[in-house]
This record gives sequence, C-alpha cells and structure tokens, in this order.
Amino acid sequence: MSKGTVIVTGGTGYIGSHTVVKLMEAGYTPVILDNLSNSSISTLDGITSITGNMPNFHEVDICNYDAVMSVVNNFNNIIGIIHFAALKAVGESSKMPIEYYKNNVSGFLTTLDVCRTIRCQNIIFSSSATVYGFTKELPVKETTPCQQATNPYGNSKKICEDILRDFIHSENAFRGIALRYFNPIGAHSSGHIGEMPQGIPNNLMPYLTQVASGMREYLSVYGDDYDTPDGTAIRDYIHVEDLADAHVIALERLALNRNSDHYEVYNLGTGKGYSVKEVINTFEASTNIPLPHKIVGRRAGDIPVLYADTSKAEKELGWKAKRTLSDMTRSAWNWESNYRARSNS
Ligand code: NAD
Ligand code: WQD
Repeated sequence: MSKGTVIVTGGTGYIGSHTVVKLMEAGYTPVILDNLSNSSISTLDGITSITGNMPNFHEVDICNYDAVMSVVNNFNNIIGIIHFAALKAVGESSKMPIEYYKNNVSGFLTTLDVCRTIRCQNIIFSSSATVYGFTKELPVKETTPCQQATNPYGNSKKICEDILRDFIHSENAFRGIALRYFNPIGAHSSGHIGEMPQGIPNNLMPYLTQVASGMREYLSVYGDDYDTPDGTAIRDYIHVEDLADAHVIALERLALNRNSDHYEVYNLGTGKGYSVKEVINTFEASTNIPLPHKIVGRRAGDIPVLYADTSKAEKELGWKAKRTLSDMTRSAWNWESNYRARSNS
C-alpha cells in the first residue's frame, strides 16, 4: 500500500527524476507534473526500468492554475509537493529575465495557490547555493547572509525562498523546507537516468562527459589563477542520488511534523570542495579515459571557492552525502555512454 501521493513538479528533469525513483522505492506514489520544456518523455522509461513501475505523469505547465488543479483533483491522500520545475540557465536568464521570473516565480506562486486550495500542507522547494553569491564566509552555513544575486535565475531562487517563508508563516497548517543544492552531478547507478542538457552544456560535468564521448574537442578550464592550491576554482559537488535521498528524508520530516520551525532551510552538499583540476583527474582515474582540456580565462561572474557547512542537515535531517567524487564521475560517464549509445542506435 502506498505511503501517500507526492506531487513532483519538474519530475522528468535531472534532479526530479532521481527523486521520483527514490520516492517510489520508499513506498510513495509520485505524480509528475512537467511541461517537458527541458526534459524528455523518455525519462519515464528510464524510471520504469529502475523501479519496475511506470510513474504517473501529466504534461502540464505549472503556471496554469486550472490545468494543475484538474490533475491534482484526481488524487487523494496528497501528503506533499516537491517543487523542482524551473528554468535554470544562469546566462540565459540575463537575456530573458521576464521569461525566467514568469516561469520560476509565477510558476511557484501558482503551485502554492494550488497547495492552499487542496490543503497540501508539506512543501519542499528546490533552492540553490547561488543565493549565497560571492561570499567569503566558508564553509557556507544556512545563516550566512545571502547576497544580491547577479542574475535573474539566482534572484528568482531568493524571491521564491522569501515567498515560501511568508506563505508558511501566514497559516499554521503549512510547513516548508527550502533545500539549497550546491553542485549536483553524476547519474543513477543503473545508467538509466541522468542529466540531458539541451544544446551546449554550461555546467562542468555534462560538458566534460561530452568531451570524453568525443562529441566536443576539449574542456575549457575557466581560469587557473585563483587563490586555491592548484589555481582552479573550487565547488562542493554532490551526487544526484544523495540529493534525491535528502528529498525523501525532508518530506518525511515535514509529514511526521518533526520540524521545530514550520519553515526551514538546509544546505545540501558534501561539505568538501574540489577544484576543476581535481574533478578532471578523478574523472580520468575513475574511467580510464583521458580528458583533453585547455586552460582559458576566467568565466565572468564565477566565484573562486564555494562549499557547504552540512552540519545542520546532518543533525536535523539525519542526512549525510555518502557517495564519493569518483562515484559521481563514474556514474556521469556511465550515463553519458549509455545515453549516447542509445541515441546513435
Ligand atoms: P531540469 O531542467 O533538468 O529540471 C526542471 C524540470 O522542470 C524540467 O523537466 C522542465 O521541463 C520542468 N519545467 C520547467 N518549467 C516548467 C513549467 N512551467 N511547468 C512544468 N514543468 C516545468 O533541472 P534540474 O537540474 O533537475 O533542477 C531542478 C531544480 O533544482 C530547479 O528548480 C533548479 O533551479 C534547481 N537547482 C538545480 C541545480 C543544478 O545544478 N542542476 C542547482 C541548484 C538548484
Ligand atoms: C563549476 C566549476 C567553472 C564549465 C552553476 C550555477 C548555480 C547552480 C549550479 C543552479 C566552475 C568550472 C565549468 C566549463 C569550467 N545551478 N567550469 N569549464 O558555476 O558553480 O554553478 O550550477 O542553481 O546557480 O551558477 O557550476 O558546473 O557551471 O561550474 O572550468 O566548461 O567548473 O568555472 O568553477 P557553477 P558549473
């Protein structure tokens, strides 16, 4: 018997699909709402291959209140909602601010409006370490002051956190958690689901695996003159399966009313920073594939070093990332090679 229905907006996306798998494995019934603007319907086959069951999916835009209501009205026992749906390309957001605010902020407002109507009490929001901006306070704690975002995407995350906090505080019945992800990478160990960037990837890992597959000539390493041991920038990379596990735990914390404050924020990272060179070396060592790369100039807006203090999530959620950087690079490559083989067949 199902432990309850969980609405998952953006559930065919990269992080959403891994979370749907973990929810199904934990005995929940996820209902995916996604407009497929940045994901493929084939993800459902990947989820089915892993879990043995086809997840419940509805192609719907979360900005459309009536469309979302007409789906959720068909379900009983909705114990919570996990809101992943958003546009996420930092550079694009500066060129299309209206589209980003409409999709990310209006979409979230619509989602909360639906929650209020159907009395769905437990809400989890996908936030980002981007809210900390260019901070020098390392490791970053949840209490580290957020900085003014340098792009509409980052600002949309901060605005949505504020909206969620105000909504939760407006009525005693609602509870919410904002999860601030650091740098999610890797893929499911089965190789059936993973990241599917459209066009040229902006992020390090999908670009790197496309270089390894021969699809791109070399990886540009953005700067080796940072004040770090090897000169390249440092991030807190976290395996997407660890991240997905944290969503199930956060949901259970809300559903079981274990939260002391009705609105909570958690960093999700490993607590350890790795440089771009360390990621390349780990990729090469874990896959035995040489990775052509060239040092180029710094990327505008890049932060030199960012990694999380994860002690709050450890203490209060009882969650700690388990997987290593090698697990991340190996699984990312396993997914890329499986995906490429399928696309070429
Ligand atoms: P993704 O693009 O793979 O997934 C987002 C999903 O939302 C996609 O399937 C897309 O089709 C869907 N979507 C977007 N707008 C929608 C709308 N209006 N209606 C319905 N569906 C819509 O991205 P992801 O990497 O899985 O990110 C998930 C969430 O985590 C996002 O909110 C993102 O901002 C946040 N986040 C991601 C990262 C990262 O590095 N991947 C880091 C921090 C935070
Ligand atoms: C990681 C490191 C680059 C590509 C972004 C968003 C952030 C969050 C996570 C959503 C950096 C270097 C990268 C390349 C490189 N997303 N790099 N060559 O910039 O930490 O964060 O994704 O919320 O908001 O800004 O991640 O993967 O782009 O870069 O050298 O081709 O890899 O300079 O040091 P970033 P990233």
